[in-house]
This record gives sequence, C-alpha cells and structure tokens, in this order.
Amino acid sequence: MLRTHTCGELRSAHVGQEVTLTGWVHKTRDKGGMMWVDIRDRYGLTQLKLEEGVTAPEVMASARELGREFVIKASGTVIERISKNDKLATGDVEIQVTVIEVLNPAKLPPFLIEDETDGGDDLRMKYRYLDLRRNAVRKNLELRHQMMKQSRAYLDTLNFIEVETPVLIKSTPEGARDFVVPSRMNPGEFYALPQSPQTFKQLLMVSGFDKYFQIVKCFRDEDLRADRQPEFTQIDCELSFVTQEDILNTFEGLVKHLFREVKGIEIEKLPRMTYADAMKYYGNDKPDTRFEMKFVELNDQVKGKGFKVFDEAGLVIGINANNCASYTRKQIDELTEYVKRPQLGATGLIYARVEADGTVKSSVDKFFSQDDLQQWAQAFAANPGDLLLILAGAEDKTRKALSELRLEMGERLGLRDKNTFSPLWVVDFPLLEWNDDAQRFFAMHHPFTSPKPEDIELIATNPGAVRANAYDMVINGVEVGGGSIRIYERPIQERMFKLLGFTEEEAQAQFGFLLNAFEYGAPPHGGIAFGFDRLCSLFGGADSIRDFIAFPKNNSGRDVMIDAPSPIAQEQLNELQIQLGTK
Ligand code: AMO
Repeated sequence: MLRTHTCGELRSAHVGQEVTLTGWVHKTRDKGGMMWVDIRDRYGLTQLKLEEGVTAPEVMASARELGREFVIKASGTVIERISKNDKLATGDVEIQVTVIEVLNPAKLPPFLIEDETDGGDDLRMKYRYLDLRRNAVRKNLELRHQMMKQSRAYLDTLNFIEVETPVLIKSTPEGARDFVVPSRMNPGEFYALPQSPQTFKQLLMVSGFDKYFQIVKCFRDEDLRADRQPEFTQIDCELSFVTQEDILNTFEGLVKHLFREVKGIEIEKLPRMTYADAMKYYGNDKPDTRFEMKFVELNDQVKGKGFKVFDEAGLVIGINANNCASYTRKQIDELTEYVKRPQLGATGLIYARVEADGTVKSSVDKFFSQDDLQQWAQAFAANPGDLLLILAGAEDKTRKALSELRLEMGERLGLRDKNTFSPLWVVDFPLLEWNDDAQRFFAMHHPFTSPKPEDIELIATNPGAVRANAYDMVINGVEVGGGSIRIYERPIQERMFKLLGFTEEEAQAQFGFLLNAFEYGAPPHGGIAFGFDRLCSLFGGADSIRDFIAFPKNNSGRDVMIDAPSPIAQEQLNELQIQLGTK
C-alpha cells in the first residue's frame, strides 16, 4: 500500500519510527513559523507538524497550498506531542513531516465533514459520498457490517444455508405495490421485483434445504416513513419440520447473539404477548414495553352519569401518567392539541389529578362525584401526584389515539431511552383482517400463513376470529421481524385463496407453481424475516433507517445523488414497446 500505517494507528510506542500516511486533509492551522495539518482516513485522524527551519521550505510552501479534503501522502518521523490531546486516539503523537505529496486536490466540499455538520438533509444526500466520510455515518455502516457478519456466523453455526433467490420475478396482487420491470424480449410483459423471497424460500423447503437464510434486498412501492425504504434488506429465514416454538427459540437466539456480540448486552428470555393483549393494553401490535403505562378501560365506571361524551362513546379508556399531577394548564393544552391532530382525531382529552391528600380533581367534576372519581383512581391504581389522561370515542380510533398519547407521554417523561432495549414476541395474530373498501378479507400477514389448527373450524363461521400461527418480534415499539408457520397442503392453501377472493383460475394462474409444488412432498415448514435496516438503526440508537443505508432514497423515493428515477430515451421505450400516456 502507499502507506505504512493508517491515520488511527500511531501511539507513543511508535515514536522515532519513519512512517507514511495517506488520507484527506481535515484541517490546516498556520501559525507562521509552525503549521499543522490534520490528516484523516476511515480509521482516525493524525496531526502532521511542519516547522520552519526543520521542514524544507518547499514542503512548507506546498503545505500552505493544501485545501480541505485534498488527498495527500505524508512521510516523516513520529514524535511525542508537547501538548497531548486525550480526545484523540492518536493524540499523544504527531508526525514531523519531511515530504507531503498531493495525490489529488479537491474542491471545497459543500458542507463540513464533521460530526456536527452544517449540511442539511438534501445536500448531504446529494453528496452522499462526502457525507459517508463523516464519523457518525461511517460508524453506522461499520455497525451494519458487524450485524451482517454476526447474523451469518450465528445462522451458519446452526447449519443454515444461504441461497440466493431471483430478483426478477412475477407480480402478485397481495401485499404492497410491486415495482415492475418491462421485458424487452417479451413485449407487453413485466417482471416484478420481490417484496420478499417468500414463495421461493417455501419452494426451497420443498427441495429439502431444511434451513435456509438470505440477507436479501426487498422492494416495496409503498409510502415512505422514517422506518421504511422502497428497497430494504431482510434477514430472511425458513425452516422445515419445526413448530412455532422452535422458530421463536432459534431467532430469539439470533437476537441475543447480536446484542451480545455487537453491543455487549445480555438479553433475558423474551416475553411473549398475545396480539389481543397488545391491542388491549397498548392499543398497538408493536408495543413499546420500555415503560408500563398500560391502558385502563373505564366503560363500567363512567357510563350513565349524564356526561354525553362518555355515554355516547364506544370506549372510554385512559392511562396513568405517574407523578404528573403538577402538569400546568399549558402542558395539558399541549396534550389536548396533540390528540386532536387530524392523524389521531380525538375530540378532546379528559384528565383527572390525584391531589396530595388523595382527592381527585377532574376536568369533568360537574358530572362525577368524589366517590365516582375515587373509583377511577382505583381502576388506575393511582397514587397522590398521578395524572389520569382519558379518551373517549369509537373503539379502534380511540385505542389508536391513546397509543400515540402513551408514546408521547413516554417521550416527555424520558421513559424511551435509546440505550434501553425491550424486545418481545407478539404472538397469535389474527389470520385475516376485513377491508371495508374492498369488502373482503385480506391476509393479515400473507396468504401462506397457516391458521391455528384449533381455529380451523372458525374459517367457515367466523373468519375474522381465526388466529394464525404468526408472530412478530418487537423491540422498543419497532416491528423488527415477522413470520409464521406456513400452509403446506394444497387443499388448505386453495381454501385460503378462496377466502381471499381468488377464483380457482386466478389462484392457479398466480400461485400455481406453489400449489403444484405442495403436491410433490412439501414438508411442514415456517420462518421469519427480520428488517435488517431497522435492526441496525435500533442497535445504533437512531429512529431513521436512512443513515444505516449507504445510498438511501429520500421520502419521495428519489435518489437525489444519481437523480433516479429518471425518464428513459424514446429509443429504449420503443424497444420495450412502451407508450407513455400524457400527464
Ligand atoms: P414482513 O412483510 O413482515 O414479512 O417483513 C419483514 C420485516 O421487514 C421489515 N420491513 C421493512 N423495512 C424497511 N422498509 C420497508 N419498507 C419494510 N417493510 C418491511 C420489517 C418487517 O418486520 N415474507 C415475510 C416474512 C415471513 O413470513 O417469513 C415478510 O416479508 O421489520
């Protein structure tokens, strides 16, 4: 290599050695007779020292020409620093430079290559290759690499085999929207990019691979959020001859392994919560269990006292914000505005404070006696100093709004520490969910998920009540993974498709390959996929997965650096036999 050491490597023990470093000019300081240049690479930063009378005049002169981010090669002797910098790993030493060679000059970067940069999001994305030079972003990718390495190591030890599945596949109507790719050789026909390798991994089970995994790109054309990218990565896994219990244990093992190896944290056995309980106590199928603040239903306590809002509500439900009775009018107003935002749509917020002497003062004292209010306090197991926050309205909407209010209170009370990790399994998801617009059931997970054997009879009578052998892993309110035990018998899969509104012909046309495969000795099987980017951002203590992806898309699905998507030439369109409509 052009260098003898990296910019993060030199210590006191190297004093006296002749070394050569390569890297980028981070900063220069010119004090006339003395000059310092900080040289930076992936590994760290080292100070170069130039001194009139010691350094050759032409080297001094060329150092004065250096600009930020020039690529240089510098040689010299390692010396002990007079004033040491204990914030820097190499801070005990510097290099008395004899030669500096400019390998490539650089234009002034559009933002500071520092931990605290002055570059806004758009600028950083346009010049992502410069953004990636910053410690903060580089560290995220290093974490990602460790996560990938440790995932492979764990799964390999357990005899999983990594198999690649195709990227050009067939479009299917279930799930999110597909990204499609036109086929030149088959005009008028399109491939789809996989939303996940779901059917292929099931076919690999039919092939006898037994334990499969793949760290794989998936593509979904859906609305983007902080934890969603149009292309993202899964640790996708499938196993044969297993029960749900085997899968939960195997992948609990994976997550424990990752926490241990990557973060040095020992995780206890993961608790399990049914979907029904998650909805009842947290209003959410991905509860943030770093803090309690469970929902308390109040219908029994509050109805029939003449307060219309409660009397007409499908559900009256609240949370106990411990030690918040001292909240000011302004703070309560803020919370009220919060729940009234259109996204949550609550009509208002009712509150009750438990005073130091145990009396309860509410915003609806007109309608409720002290005895009534004491009953509320009891239902919440409230103590003096607590603040009860109550919402009323249609059941689903109210639960959802309270779930958001709970998270907001958790945030305000500092209960959502990014260095605390609270993983759990959510199990027993419903098999189906009703869609009012389409007037039909959709698979809650996907159409290949098997019903719980004990609920199979309900399919004919009450499909909405059928539970699935499906599970999600949730950490700190983030769904990091999900999977299920699959259907592996053709008649049951056909019945499922029928329930989802497929005709026999449609099922055969879209999933005939899988139905056929099930007739050639399909073993019982099941699996899971983890959202790898989400796992990385959680481990890195960040909310957005973007900074854990080298070249991410923005919220409009654009890569602003390469400017994609972009129009294609008329010639290409002709070749693909595609005619664009007018806007
Ligand atoms: P599912 O659709 O639940 O299951 O996806 C698995 C996990 O992938 C992550 N994820 C995403 N991450 C970033 N951006 C996105 N747009 C995005 N969408 C999903 C989530 C999610 O938990 N084939 C099934 C798995 C199985 O049944 O084995 C599947 O894809 O963390």
